[in-house]
Amino acid sequence: MDKFVIEGPNSLKGEVTVSGSKNASLPMMAAAILTTEDVILHNVPDLKDIATMCKLLVELGCRCKREDKTIVINCSNLDSNKAPYELVKTMRASILVLGPLMARLHNAEVSLPGGCAIGVRPVNFHIDGLRALSADVKIENGYIVSTAKKLKGGSIYFDIPSVTGTENLMMAATLADGETVMKNAAKEPEVVDLAKMLIMMGAKIDGIGDSIIRIDGVDKLSGVEYTVMNDRIEAGTLMVAALATSSEVTIKGMPIYAMDAIVDKFKEIGGKIEIIDKDVAVVGGKTIKPTIISTAVYPGFPTDMQAQFMAVLSLADGSSIIKETIFENRFMHAAELNRLGANIVISGNEAVVNGVDRFVGATVMATDLRASASLVIAGLAAEGKTEVLRIYHLDRGYEKLEEKLSNLGAVIRREKE
Ligand code: EPZ
Repeated sequence: MDKFVIEGPNSLKGEVTVSGSKNASLPMMAAAILTTEDVILHNVPDLKDIATMCKLLVELGCRCKREDKTIVINCSNLDSNKAPYELVKTMRASILVLGPLMARLHNAEVSLPGGCAIGVRPVNFHIDGLRALSADVKIENGYIVSTAKKLKGGSIYFDIPSVTGTENLMMAATLADGETVMKNAAKEPEVVDLAKMLIMMGAKIDGIGDSIIRIDGVDKLSGVEYTVMNDRIEAGTLMVAALATSSEVTIKGMPIYAMDAIVDKFKEIGGKIEIIDKDVAVVGGKTIKPTIISTAVYPGFPTDMQAQFMAVLSLADGSSIIKETIFENRFMHAAELNRLGANIVISGNEAVVNGVDRFVGATVMATDLRASASLVIAGLAAEGKTEVLRIYHLDRGYEKLEEKLSNLGAVIRREKE
């Protein structure tokens, strides 16, 4: 296993370019199942989770080839309907093949993804949604076994606006007979990006970015060539790293249009941002002020930025409160930040973050993707050496982060644990 070794404190300078979005790329790759023609995706980040999705598609009989930042997928020879546990257990987002398989083959066997560090991660909305589209869905030996003569349009309501739930069922509905209405659907920019691509493939979708989405099923979808949006969470992570190290950096390729809540909170805690162009900004700051954060579905403050803000707010001049309303166990980074000298007290789904003067380097352990980013941010600011273990969590969602940070002047290197 790899670890990061960071010598702090660092001050960052120069410019960095944001990679394509992991959470937009994954559903788009699964959408290739919906057509027998080539799906060509540009700006796809080179990440572990993307490689896993490619492997799963090949397992299903598709071709999936990466050429630099472009991935070409062709599912004309789809010859399996089974997403095996061995693959699904390494990446929960594998469930995104369920909807497309049901649309294309009318049957699917997808392993239940199981939970992960941040929560139980149930998939009841995915299952209930397929049933609303006239699928017969059973759970057998840890697998979701779904069959249908043909999917029929129906009415789907999400108790919680699930991101991959919305994506899965939107893809399923594109080839169903008749109209599907999804209520309380997720509005995340990655859901919108997927919908835009599906429409280019010939899907009939209304209300994208809204909480009521209507999909009129069509007989078939064509291939597509599409450029994936950039990663708003990576951009937010880099912004917070600049503020935590009292630096000023230029971020290029920032999807500012999708970052209102992140930018707003960043400015509220003392961050400075000067927007140079539609996707270029100079960000940083010298003082860090306390605040109150409550994570929410889009366009609210994203849960995927909670851990990173907890790191920088640990250096604020005062106490902050962070409420995690999306996942039931997404504070594991708090104990690790406290090992670096933070003073965070957890009570249920609330964290009180009492600002301290500085982080002091120590060995800490990553527990999940965004927690690892939070520990790297703290390590950059910490005095002395910080080792972040189990960095494979970070490799799932950040492309060459140590390279990007080194190019900004950070002293960070990857070593074998
Ligand atoms: C997506 O996960 C993202 N993953 C997550 O990013 C992100 O944290 C999450 O959305 C919230 O924004 C991808 O897009 C691949 P949800 P997803 O379904 O779709 C409950 C990262 O860091 N729920 O919106 O799995 C669920 O337990 C990852 O890149 C049900 O109860 O999240 C959670 O409490 C981590 N039943 C809430 O809804 C269901 O059927 C939101 O989950 C589905 C979800």
